[in-house]
Amino acid sequence: MGPKSTDLKELARLLPKAELHLHIEGTLEPELMFELAQKNRVKLPYKSTEEARRAYNFSDLQDFLNIYYNAMKSLVTETDFYDLTMAYIRRVALQGLVHAEIFFDPQAHLSRGVSFKTVVSGIHRALEDAKGRYGISSYLIMCFLRDQSAESAMDVLQEAKKYKPWIKAVGMDSKELGNPPHKFTTVFEDARNSGFLAVAHAGEEAPAEYIWEALDLLKISRIDHGYHMFEDPKLVERVAKERIPVTACPISSVGVNYFKRIEDVPIRKMLDLGIVATINSDDPAYFKGYLAENYAAVIDGLQLRKDEVVKLAKNSIEASFLPNAEKGTHIKMVDKILIENS
Ligand code: HPA
Ligand code: ZN
Repeated sequence: MGPKSTDLKELARLLPKAELHLHIEGTLEPELMFELAQKNRVKLPYKSTEEARRAYNFSDLQDFLNIYYNAMKSLVTETDFYDLTMAYIRRVALQGLVHAEIFFDPQAHLSRGVSFKTVVSGIHRALEDAKGRYGISSYLIMCFLRDQSAESAMDVLQEAKKYKPWIKAVGMDSKELGNPPHKFTTVFEDARNSGFLAVAHAGEEAPAEYIWEALDLLKISRIDHGYHMFEDPKLVERVAKERIPVTACPISSVGVNYFKRIEDVPIRKMLDLGIVATINSDDPAYFKGYLAENYAAVIDGLQLRKDEVVKLAKNSIEASFLPNAEKGTHIKMVDKILIENS
């Protein structure tokens, strides 16, 4: 008999893992949101943390985004961004996280008069401390808001270039339908020419065509969400054959009603097809699940086997932008922990 699911969930928590799809603004828990809003004299649309949590019940992606952008208004100073990031790190340090590649949305702050420097300095300083205190390494990925113009994206890219040593890659998020990747071909070309790697949310709510464009026009190295790939067998074949990693976010994909139930999230299907699938948490404060809870949800929902859980943890390391030597060290540690817990 295989291990019980409680044991498997505990093993999933212990195994060294990377988080590759995490919006730092999506880790803003209601308690910190209220604390910062009070300090910064920002008005929130909720009377209490309970009321905020009750409002986190979304009909679709746009419904989530409206609430997410509104809550961000409580983040104003460099220290606020430091506290936000450190609160995230403290939680996942207990969940086997060894490396995080973290999205941030500067345009959502610039539009409220918060400078690029304020945002990136606070997050970066916390990530430096995270490395020292918890041994967690990280890279930052600056996301363009795809529902804003290409000109606005180009402007924020120029800001990012000033902080190049702190930012590994560019990404793209926000409202997908109606904002296809080709809108940003020139922006991504400029970013890649400046040495940034590229990823993009694609096929979260828009058709497979958006994933083709993200691969062929934006030349991304990883697909965020990617669920709509299954409409197109040729695309699925390419993603598997070229080992283009996919960052699935099980709890959030149910939370925005792309899937009805966790059981419908195609994690096993991706693994069976040889796709480098990974488990991630997206916006844990809003969808109510950090990395370990996302693993636990698919372990329960899909009745995952031990070899599948191990594969997902190893995939997260492989799919990261870490140098090969560091990937090797983490993978060896996965094997060591497996032996110790067998
Ligand atoms: N999709 C699109 N935009 C986002 C997301 C997401 O999952 N999270 C934060 N911004
Ligand atoms: Zn996302």
